[in-house]
Amino acid sequence: MNCELWYVGALRKACSVPDEMDFIPYGRQSIDRDDEAAVLDALRSPLLTTGPRVAQFEQDMCQYLGVPFAVAVSNGTAALHCAVHAAGIGKGDEVILSPLTFAASANCVLYLGATPVFADVLADTLLIAPVDVEKKITSRTRAIIAVDYAGQPCDYTALRELCNRYHLVLIADCAHSLGATYGDRSCAFHADLATYSFHPVKHITSGEGGLVTTHRKEWADAMRRFRNHGIDADHAQRSREGTWRYTMKTLGYNYRITDIQCALASSQLKKIDGWLERRQQIAKQYDAAFAGDHRLDPLYVHENRTHAYHLYVLRLAEQYGANARQQLFDFLRSRRIGVNVHYIPVYQHDYYVQHHNGGYVHCPNTESACERIMSLPMFNSLSDDAVARVIAAVQQGLSDLP
Ligand SMILES: Cc1ncc(COP(=O)(O)O)c(C=O)c1O
Repeated sequence: MNCELWYVGALRKACSVPDEMDFIPYGRQSIDRDDEAAVLDALRSPLLTTGPRVAQFEQDMCQYLGVPFAVAVSNGTAALHCAVHAAGIGKGDEVILSPLTFAASANCVLYLGATPVFADVLADTLLIAPVDVEKKITSRTRAIIAVDYAGQPCDYTALRELCNRYHLVLIADCAHSLGATYGDRSCAFHADLATYSFHPVKHITSGEGGLVTTHRKEWADAMRRFRNHGIDADHAQRSREGTWRYTMKTLGYNYRITDIQCALASSQLKKIDGWLERRQQIAKQYDAAFAGDHRLDPLYVHENRTHAYHLYVLRLAEQYGANARQQLFDFLRSRRIGVNVHYIPVYQHDYYVQHHNGGYVHCPNTESACERIMSLPMFNSLSDDAVARVIAAVQQGLSDLP
């Protein structure tokens, strides 16, 4: 055992600190024996990267999401970069997205010399507002990035209609929504390109990892080159063809993912249905406990959409502001509950303020929500006891608000 852990454990015992004082993070991975065996198997195989487990994971995801092509990459940010590259985004272009997201959703647009344009979210769901998207469309707009915030799918009907009318590419950032459905199809099915992240706090993990799906073979081929320096054939293909020759067709990156990571990801994907069910069960417990509390303003969930609950977002009622949120946050942290805030609006990050006119962007619904939200613990191995502890602490924290 690691020395530090042993020391903390021994100290706890000596001071008889009860187990329930243990820290509950907002998200964490679940790894079982099957995952360990799959990784060990990959480690003992001849190809540690760009081997059969990468192709297998891509195939597993195609089947799960109901799409024809998937390209696995090193992380969700690389997946976004691949997607905007495949969509042909370049200098002078504009891409519209919600500011209520992780910075990577917008940064990928900057990587290609294009401009992210922020459209506000709907106050009830905190998902991008199609009406505001339409207001932001100009002759330079090339794509929309729909972020399925917290795990609820965006309004893909309205966004598709806008994309058809204005000839735009619909990219879905599904980092939060693996397993979510809009109607009875995956979000990836509804988008031209959809990106996923397999960071340990996500629904399934590969340590670090990402993936892009598409309906177009030429885009899948372009992304396979892009993840491999822009080279036209990977080592396996050259080996099959008995040649050492290759050429670099475009400027690409090393966004490859290993077979070790994909072995883990495929093994994790087998468990997704049960894990999603557990996340939804936890959400129901939170919903029931907080229903009707006048100090809260719950997010709305549409009936024809399955929420994948990457996050459970608690929102204080409108009469509260950032100070009340901070007070509740500090109280919950003092009770060793790992609440978090997802997110501050991307345009308010220092870099965006200093270099991309962030100070001049104003999305009122996003800004109002951002001051009042926090994410409660949400992961499939969260026990009923831990959920009860979170609920009791939130209720106590709320009763202390002014
Ligand atoms: C909405 C969203 N998009 C993209 C990413 C980037 O994924 P990764 O951390 O795998 O690069 C994240 C990561 O948290 C995210 O939440």
